[in-house]
This record gives sequence, C-alpha cells and structure tokens, in this order.
Amino acid sequence: MRNFNYYAPTQVVFGKNKETKVGELVKKYGGTKVLLHYGGQSAIKSGLLAKVEESLKNEGIEYVKLGGVVPNPRLSLVREGLEICKKENIDFLLAVGGGSVIDSCKAISSGRYFDGDVWDLYLKKAVATQYMPIGCVLTIPAAGSEMSDGSVITNEEGWLKKDYCTDDFRPKFSIMNPELTYSLPAWQTACGAVDIMMHTMERYFSKDDDMEITDNIAEALLRTVKDEVKKVLKNPTDYSSRAQIMWAGSLAHNGLTGCGTSGDWATHNLEHELSGMWDVSHGAGLAAMWGSWARYTCKENITRFARFAVNVMGVTQNFRSAEETAEAGIVAMEQFYHSIGMPTSIPELIGKQATDKEIEEMANKCSNNGTQTIGCLKPLSKADMIAIYKMANK
Ligand code: NZQ
Ligand code: ZN
Repeated sequence: MRNFNYYAPTQVVFGKNKETKVGELVKKYGGTKVLLHYGGQSAIKSGLLAKVEESLKNEGIEYVKLGGVVPNPRLSLVREGLEICKKENIDFLLAVGGGSVIDSCKAISSGRYFDGDVWDLYLKKAVATQYMPIGCVLTIPAAGSEMSDGSVITNEEGWLKKDYCTDDFRPKFSIMNPELTYSLPAWQTACGAVDIMMHTMERYFSKDDDMEITDNIAEALLRTVKDEVKKVLKNPTDYSSRAQIMWAGSLAHNGLTGCGTSGDWATHNLEHELSGMWDVSHGAGLAAMWGSWARYTCKENITRFARFAVNVMGVTQNFRSAEETAEAGIVAMEQFYHSIGMPTSIPELIGKQATDKEIEEMANKCSNNGTQTIGCLKPLSKADMIAIYKMANK
C-alpha cells in the first residue's frame, strides 16, 4: 500500500431538521458576521433559506445575503462576494446549496486575504496563505465539496474551468439532512449519483493493486449508490435511500476511497472541458466520457477492470479472458447510466456531435497547449485526449 495522508476535519451533522443547528455551529467556529451564499431558486422555494436565517438570528449572528450561484459557478460572482466580505467585515462563509455554492464560497475564502487576483490561484500561479472559515448546509449529494479540499470555478472570460485544491478549503462543518434532497429533480439526482461513483472510480482505477481495504470500501460504496439511486428515482421521498446516497457522496470525496492509491482523474479533467464549453451538468459530462476513457486505458490494468466488472457490476467472470470480463463491465456501466437517464456519449450529452475544432480546443485547454499530460493509469497526451473525445463523439 502506498503511503498516504488522510485528513477529514469537517464536523458532519447528519439527519432530520439538523439545519436548525446552523446558528449554533457558526458560533462554535467563531463566526460573528456571515456571508450567506446560495444558488438560484431551490433554497428559497423550499423554505430552507428562511430557516437558516432564523437560526442565525436566534444566535444573534449578523449576515449579508448573496444568492445567484449557478451550476459551474462563475468567477464574476466570486469577485462580488469578495467585495462584500471586505466592505462588510465578514468573518465566516456559509454555503446553502450544492457543490457550486460551496465552491464559490471556497474561492471567496481563498481570495479574501490574498494580495493578488483570486484567479491566479486557480491558474496555479500562486498559493494563498490565509483563508476564511466555511460552513455548509448541503442540498444535493454529488460534488462532495462539503468535505473535500477542492473548488472548481469557471472564468467567463475564455470559459476556462479550473480547480484549486488545499486542505484549508475543508469546511468546518457540514449539515446534511437527506429530507432537503427530496425536491431534487430526477436529472440532478442521477447526475449526483454519477459524480459520487466517479469520485470513487477515479481513485479505484490505478496501476496499484495492494490496497484491499480501500478497494473493498470503494466497491461497497459503488454498489450502494448504484442500487439506492434506482430506488430514489422511483420514490423521491425514500428517506433511507436519500440518506445512503448523501453519506456516500461525502465519503466518496473526502479522501477515504483514495487511501493508499495513486488515483487517475483523467475523466474529470476531460469532463471539465465539456462543461466549460457547453455549460453541461458535471455528472452528465462524466457519464458521457467514462466508457471511452475506460476502453482507451483498460489494458494498463486489465485485471482491475475485470474485478470491477465482477464485484461492482455483477458481471459473470470469464476465466479465459480478463479482457472480455472487463469489456462486459464497461458495457454494464453504460447500461446502468442509460437506465438512470444519463448520456454515454457527447452527442447524447449536447444533442449534436462536437466539431473537430471544438475537440482540438478542449484538448488544448486540457493539456495546457500540449505541455501537460493528465491521468495516472495511463498518462494522456493531447493526442490521446483527442482520440478519447473522438471515441465519445460517436
Ligand atoms: O441553484 P438552485 O436553484 O439551488 O438549483 C440547483 C442547481 O440548479 C439544484 N439544486 C440543488 N439542491 C437542490 C436543487 N434543486 C432542487 N432541490 C434541491 N435540494 O441543482 C442544480 C445543481 O447544483 P450544483 O450545486 O451545481 O450541483 P453539484 O453539487 O453537482 O455541483 C457541481 C459543481 O461542483 C463541481 C463541478 O465541476 C460543478 O461545477 N465539483 C466540485 C468538486 C469539489 N469541490 O470537490 C469536485 C467535483 O468533481 C466537481 O468537479
Ligand atoms: Zn466530480
């Protein structure tokens, strides 16, 4: 097993009505004046935002509201949040929403004391040294940002989608009430399930083969999400299934399923260019790319793909051919994606084929103009990226 550092400092407060504890938790972590950050409509419509405001008021905590975070959160709103934080002397960031709202908070957190342009942090030109504390009330299990070290922001100038990762981004607390996810549309529920599974699979598909405990945790998590999402799509108010998925979402991306492995992350990198170019949902973009990436790279560790096929997808092992077992697993995964309404190709994702020019542009951005590779299972050059985008474009 490889050496690893597992750091998951976030206090998780899980269960029914736990959002009423938000004021107490902000106080516990030293917040006195909060930027209350949220998305478009859902938190207002469900009454969640009003409940959060009441809880803050009960604890005598002042707050300033900033809504309007969109999926694939934008740099311009991060800049607006930074101005408010400086002008209003905000000392705590509270995200009420999903990965996009949390990531926007994280960007504001990193830019607050940074003596330069916050976008330079996402371009890896600099590293911030001081951060604002963050708390979350999660409304969609998907990105795992409620416990993760990452933030992904889209700069509208050039439509660049970039991430910045640091342990300082891990929230102080995350409140997770599965009932808050009952209102999720089927599409968002399915996108979330794909993202959760992909966070596990990105860590699972590596060249390593000596992390049995991590593999077993990963396989159990994948089977659980695969089964529970079907139940939730039939019955959106199934508390037990919503709860399993919500907790799986955090465990999939807090580092647990990566202990002792090198991980890959190429599918995520390829997807970020899709959502940068067409503003698609991240989970749907992952589903559209994964099969092509898997077929392109599986030779690098065919027994691992065969193990996945048997242990996760329930494929019968073909003892004479690991290749055939692995391919059957990839097919089964694509069938599963279709069964929950997810695309498995670029045309299914965006309603048309990508042009050669668009594929070239995505590969250029993803490879930093051909200067860097992505992925570990098989490091992918710009030419490999183009080949995979073309496979996914049929
Ligand atoms: O804006 P509102 O009205 O709230 O609607 C949102 C949004 O349209 C809606 N929604 C959220 N909770 C709801 C709800 N609708 C009804 N009922 C509820 N309870 O869902 C839509 C999607 O929300 P969003 O926050 O964008 O979803 P998600 O959590 O999937 O976040 C996606 C973003 O996270 C990034 C992605 O790239 C993408 O930008 N990621 C962040 C990561 C991280 N920080 O560690 C890792 C991931 O790999 C991912 O890249
Ligand atoms: Zn993801």
